Amino acid sequence: MKKLVISSGAGISAESGVSTFRDAGGLWENYPVMKVASADGFRENPELVHEFYNKRREQLLTVQPNNAHLILKDLEKDFDVQIITQNVDNLHERAGSSKVLHLHGELMKIRSMKHPERIYELKETNLHTSIDTRDEYGDPVRPHIVFFQEDVPNFQPAVEMVQEADIFVVIGTSLVVYPAASLLYYVRKGTPIYYIDPNPAQVPSDRNITVIPKKATEGVTELAKILRNSL
Ligand code: OAD
Repeated sequence: MKKLVISSGAGISAESGVSTFRDAGGLWENYPVMKVASADGFRENPELVHEFYNKRREQLLTVQPNNAHLILKDLEKDFDVQIITQNVDNLHERAGSSKVLHLHGELMKIRSMKHPERIYELKETNLHTSIDTRDEYGDPVRPHIVFFQEDVPNFQPAVEMVQEADIFVVIGTSLVVYPAASLLYYVRKGTPIYYIDPNPAQVPSDRNITVIPKKATEGVTELAKILRNSL
């Protein structure tokens, strides 16, 4: 089976009702990003950061995977599909995708501040955390999110996946946040690349990139047809 590597961003979840970050009305228009999503912000006002992610979790429970997530799952019948997502939602998993790597962490997980390897899945009935939340060892916890100013531990594994791709697809990302945006440059020369986004960013002209300037549900439907016709 051909290796189909997908790099998804906030745009793939937009039609499920999850706000993107940088579109008009996006999250960073209403929340100061460096206060709620940076290491400095968390040090300065951890309560505000806990609150921000509590709200994101509450909202996540109200939404469902859309057709774009579901088609990617369905493509597993014909391709070895690896998803690399910048999203912290769990909509790829809920759609049934079996291989999902999160670059920027996961909303439904928290981790110990003393022992970062201790990661806990939150229950739907207990979504809220605060500066007083403790893990089973009595240690304070934080959202399992990669804040700005922090390393991206899953970047290296992602690069290795991209280097093995037979087909690489980018969906719904403004390609402004690094290192995630640089994944494109690790694709082997000549490998077909598709970029689905209704408002696509500039992409390098020396690569084999087909831009599909459509919303994720429409664009992924079109992509699936192209890929299946190529089998
Ligand atoms: P952005 O908000 O920067 O970009 C969203 C992209 O989705 C834009 O290019 C839109 O044109 C596109 N879009 C909007 N509606 C769409 C739809 N229906 N279908 C397809 N695409 C659509 O989001 P990201 O690029 O994912 O990190 O942002 C990257 C990172 O910045 C996030 O992971 C987050 C944020 O700060 C952290 O918080 C660590």
